[in-house]
Amino acid sequence: MTRATALLVPLLVLALAGCGGNQNTVAPAGHPERSITHLFWVMLGASCVGFGVIVSLLFLGWIRRERPALPGGHGERAATGVVIGLGVALPIVLLVSLFIWSDLFVLNSVAAPTSPTPVTVRVTGHQWWWEVRYDGSSVVTANEIHIPVHTKVTAIVTTDDVIHSFWIPELNRKVDMIPGTENRLLLLADRPGIYRGQCAEFCGLQHAHMSVEVIAEPKPAFEAWLARNARPAAHGNALFTANCSGCHRIRGTGANADVGPDLTHFASRRMIAALTLPNTPRNLREWLRDPQHVKPGNRMPDLPLTDTQWTALQRYLESLR
Ligand code: CUA
Repeated sequence: MTRATALLVPLLVLALAGCGGNQNTVAPAGHPERSITHLFWVMLGASCVGFGVIVSLLFLGWIRRERPALPGGHGERAATGVVIGLGVALPIVLLVSLFIWSDLFVLNSVAAPTSPTPVTVRVTGHQWWWEVRYDGSSVVTANEIHIPVHTKVTAIVTTDDVIHSFWIPELNRKVDMIPGTENRLLLLADRPGIYRGQCAEFCGLQHAHMSVEVIAEPKPAFEAWLARNARPAAHGNALFTANCSGCHRIRGTGANADVGPDLTHFASRRMIAALTLPNTPRNLREWLRDPQHVKPGNRMPDLPLTDTQWTALQRYLESLR
């Protein structure tokens, strides 16, 4: 392998690692993101053509370097024509059309709704998780946003601490979460699915472990989820109240703090710790017993519990469906 290939292979692997998966900016699942993707491909295509023309002209100049004039002797006039046509007129036409297209059409389709939408969800960024609330409902959840498909949803985003950025690549653009300010974003999914999102603004130690899922489902399934999650928990737990209620809320019990995520329907969530781990018994155990190992720097303390107490606490959390 030559040195160039040795360098190229890891670079290609790195570049291609960003493709596919379920956080893909060029695999839109809704109208706003589709218009961004179209604009991206057209700009990429236009840039490639422009780059091709420049490289061809350079190449032409290089192979003609020993010859004084073009056939017919009009070399200088031809060159001036090329410079004015391809170097001035064409870029002006291209840039102005791209500007008009992005300004009139793309910005319009990714813009936040100006009138009320059927569903409004309020997302607050925390170091390092997402709080999710629904207007007109008592539902509070964390790190997963359920929305109905084919329905415009307004996301009103803000932060509780530092600046974060809310980004669901398959649904729409990024939007910053700024202290004291509410920003709006349109969420619109064309088909049911789970769309992964990621905090897109460096916000501290666990910025990379600050992920969120948008779960788009048919309207009846969404409404059933909303009704189920609006219910308070069936019962409290003494261990939880003694050790966890200083930070967490479980609606319907004595635990009602808002430092960490609301855990009322904890067991129904797919993932834990802002998508760091799938919500399995084994992972939950690891997370409870050594949270600083799973996600260093997070605000969850190590608790001095016995094995029996850990098991009882875990059973209780797993009962919160
Ligand atoms: Cu929150 Cu990066």
